[in-house]
Amino acid sequence: MSYDRSVSAPERELSPETVWHIQMPEIRFGRDSIEELGYQLRDSGVDRGAEGLIVTDETLVEIGHVSRVSDELEAAGLAVDVWDGTEREPSIANVDACIEFVRDRAGDDGYEFYIGLGGGSCMDVAKGTRTIVANGGEVLDYVAEPTGEGKPLTERGAPLVLLPTTAGTGSEISPVGIYSVEEKNIKEGISSNHIRADAAILDPTLTTTLPPEITAKTAMDALGHAIEGYTTHPHTSLLRASNPASRPVYAGRTALTEMFSEKAIELLSGNVRRAVHNGDDLEARGNMLQGALFGAIAGLTAGASLCHAMAYPVGNRYHTYHGETIAVLTPASTLGYNVASEPERFVRVAEMLGADTSGHSTREAADLAREEYVRLQRDLNVLPSGLAELVDIDEEAIDWLAQQTVDTQQRLLRCNPRPVTKADVVGIFEDALFNWE
Ligand SMILES: [Fe+2]
Repeated sequence: MSYDRSVSAPERELSPETVWHIQMPEIRFGRDSIEELGYQLRDSGVDRGAEGLIVTDETLVEIGHVSRVSDELEAAGLAVDVWDGTEREPSIANVDACIEFVRDRAGDDGYEFYIGLGGGSCMDVAKGTRTIVANGGEVLDYVAEPTGEGKPLTERGAPLVLLPTTAGTGSEISPVGIYSVEEKNIKEGISSNHIRADAAILDPTLTTTLPPEITAKTAMDALGHAIEGYTTHPHTSLLRASNPASRPVYAGRTALTEMFSEKAIELLSGNVRRAVHNGDDLEARGNMLQGALFGAIAGLTAGASLCHAMAYPVGNRYHTYHGETIAVLTPASTLGYNVASEPERFVRVAEMLGADTSGHSTREAADLAREEYVRLQRDLNVLPSGLAELVDIDEEAIDWLAQQTVDTQQRLLRCNPRPVTKADVVGIFEDALFNWE
């Protein structure tokens, strides 16, 4: 298997990457920052009297977050419609349904602004909808071949502001929308700077309603982004992009990645117990939301790696939550198999997670990262003890999952600090069955 990234491959004319690049939406963070939504929209070019759409789900309508947002919009002199049909881990058909709603209600040009309110699912549907309305056609036109047509997006569309209600996915800043393809039992991403939101407003008061279990799952996703970003290979080990447009979105770790990862790991691992066991602890919620944002900046610039690559086939086959899948796979993958790639770096991870590494050899200390991470999960008391508890799994299923990982996840595997074969992945899935007794 080749990863097409090594600068030591002898048969090629090679020069290492020297440049990194980051593009971000405008970000507003903090308690009651939702009150600045009207200002943000005006700043993004939305005129008074404009009509927009909130893309969300039914739960967020029920718990009152949608009316809180629409009140803000109305107070700012804006009109708003609501589409609350987002499904968990949304399908392409789900996004197409939202697009159809827009065209029915607002015509082919769509609304004058869009709000994505919710977790990663709602935000991904909002991102896909506003961009595809502007570009015409349907989702599959823009999904990579062979599943879709692979057409490039050329328009951004009307202003889009995202308001996350979970601290985890990082969709509020990412240039990717992830959608499941029901007929094929796979997920596909649309990856483009045109799909990225214009602004994100992160208000921890929108996250206090999140139940303990989802708080824990989304936190493990966020922590995964931070640790995977921190431990991926350096961007200088990639080949230099032949032109700026061909530089991959996931381009290896930089000094910026490391800075954000470190802070993210500290904030997430230091606050998740409080946020899970006392959901109303606004300080802990704020730290989690900030940690998840920093983890996303780290992970989504450097790239996620092996754990995320293995998680997608599991999610496709068993329809598990992304965060809980990351939770059960991280010990064996990121903090197990990958540790050999650079033990010194994992010693730092262990320390950031709270382990006392004094008196240990480097290799032993690096392994404490896994131990400390598993202890954290056990303390949360709402996460499965391993893949075997999460799903009904046998040898055949593991073989299928490993095959899918190496066949469909090269985009992520090329970021992994240690090469993997299918046999390696089988071993890692087996190692992930039981993280504790
Ligand atoms: Fe993730």
